[in-house]
Amino acid sequence: MAINLLVKDIDSLTSPALVVFSKSSAQKEKLAKVTHSELGKKFAEAIAEKTITGKHQEAITFREMNHGGFRHVIVVGLGKENEITHETVRQSAATAFEAIRALKVKEAVVHFDGISAGKKDAANFLQAAAEGMVLTSYVFDELKTAKKDAEELNVHLVTKTADKAAKDAFNEGVILGSVVNFSRRLGDLPGNLMTPTILANSAVEAAKGIANLKVTVWDKARVKKERMGGLLGVAAGSDQEPRFIIMEYKGAAASKKPVCFVGKGLTFDCGGISIKPGAGMEEMKYDMCGGANVIGTLLAIAKLKLKVNAVGLVASTENLINGSATKPGDVHTARNGKTFEVNNTDAEGRLILADALSYATELEPQVICDAATLTGAMVIALGNTHTGYFTRNAALKNKIERAAGESGEWVWNMPLVDFHVADMKGVYADLSNISSGKGAGSATAAAFLEQFVGEGIPWAHFDIAGTGWAVGNRLPYCTKKGASGVMIRTFVEIARQHA
Ligand code: BES
Ligand code: ZN
Ligand code: ZN
Repeated sequence: MAINLLVKDIDSLTSPALVVFSKSSAQKEKLAKVTHSELGKKFAEAIAEKTITGKHQEAITFREMNHGGFRHVIVVGLGKENEITHETVRQSAATAFEAIRALKVKEAVVHFDGISAGKKDAANFLQAAAEGMVLTSYVFDELKTAKKDAEELNVHLVTKTADKAAKDAFNEGVILGSVVNFSRRLGDLPGNLMTPTILANSAVEAAKGIANLKVTVWDKARVKKERMGGLLGVAAGSDQEPRFIIMEYKGAAASKKPVCFVGKGLTFDCGGISIKPGAGMEEMKYDMCGGANVIGTLLAIAKLKLKVNAVGLVASTENLINGSATKPGDVHTARNGKTFEVNNTDAEGRLILADALSYATELEPQVICDAATLTGAMVIALGNTHTGYFTRNAALKNKIERAAGESGEWVWNMPLVDFHVADMKGVYADLSNISSGKGAGSATAAAFLEQFVGEGIPWAHFDIAGTGWAVGNRLPYCTKKGASGVMIRTFVEIARQHA
């Protein structure tokens, strides 16, 4: 799919498909309004009969309308006027895209002015519309012999006027959508085609040609030399070598402290010796989504040329079972010198993140944010609507809430207190990788991570176990079963706030 912004009068164009919008009325008995006045008149009957209601996410396709230069016309509902936000626009764009796709046309024009007329958030809406379209265009069918989407589709978002802010916002939406799709693909690839080596190579490849972005990859020998006992301990059970991926973007003076993003890149988690049950285990190919999304975050920051220094760190390995695998009770030493007992080999994400967070700390960053499919407990707590985040830093909490407000991603602040830390004390080593207490499994995991973050560094941990994939039943611009690319858009906003 290709999308572009066309600054033109919509009625001067010709295309096989035209998308216009409708709005529902605040009063029940009142009828919907179609935002294109001429078509509004033509559709008077459909409106009177309530075929067009303007309800959010409604899409009515009028085939063979032959209105002006347009063969088919699609009317997409925006909902009530006063309830339109950038997120409803993102979702309406998704609805529009699906309706266009169903027509099997090669080209369509979208009457964007119908959304933005009289709105001060026009630029914001343009970004959201672009994001919604690009995100919805994502299909993962490269492993099927018959491709669903072999047809090329060109979508033109049409507006009468666009200033520089609007054009920049549109471009930003396209960049963010494309990067999220890039990360989704990494997540959707199965474990045999997405190993730590392939993940690292994908980051290197994707960064090629992007100004001021450098990728360094550490192999197993280097990881050992760098004393990353957590990453090595998890990788011990796998025939695949681990990788530690370092992405550095320089968009500000060298003296400016970086913002640091850390991701869990577990390319397959069978649980290790503490093996997981078979049912649903195939989903553990998604255990690298935190890592994939951190790679996407750095790509986006660099492509958007943010005036910030940023570092992305991804610890990547498989968690499998060969004769050398870490056993319950084994003790390893993390990069910062702290020792931990591995009392459950399935609690492996925190062990590889321990080394990555220790390394992040050494960079003396302004802030550290990590993303990880860390605990099943998070799925129980928040399901697939909100990403739970943990931080003890009030200023960072405010920044996160503001960033998520801008991105449209839902986050929820979770508790992290000293009791959770106490639960992670080891018997034979400094720490245990599982809690001695009952419940709060996501918070105790966060408390474990906290032991590897330097004092005074603002840090937040985002547990994306519930939101990393399979959120398409909620969000129309996500696939039903695939990776979501969650937190990239929010992390980019967080980076922007530190510029
Ligand atoms: N990758 C899993 C967490 C997970 C589970 C993510 C389900 C998404 C969906 C993680 O490595 C894990 O297995 N955690 C254990 C920790 C426990 C042994 C303390 C869990 O949550 O069961
Ligand atoms: Zn696990
Ligand atoms: Zn895991």
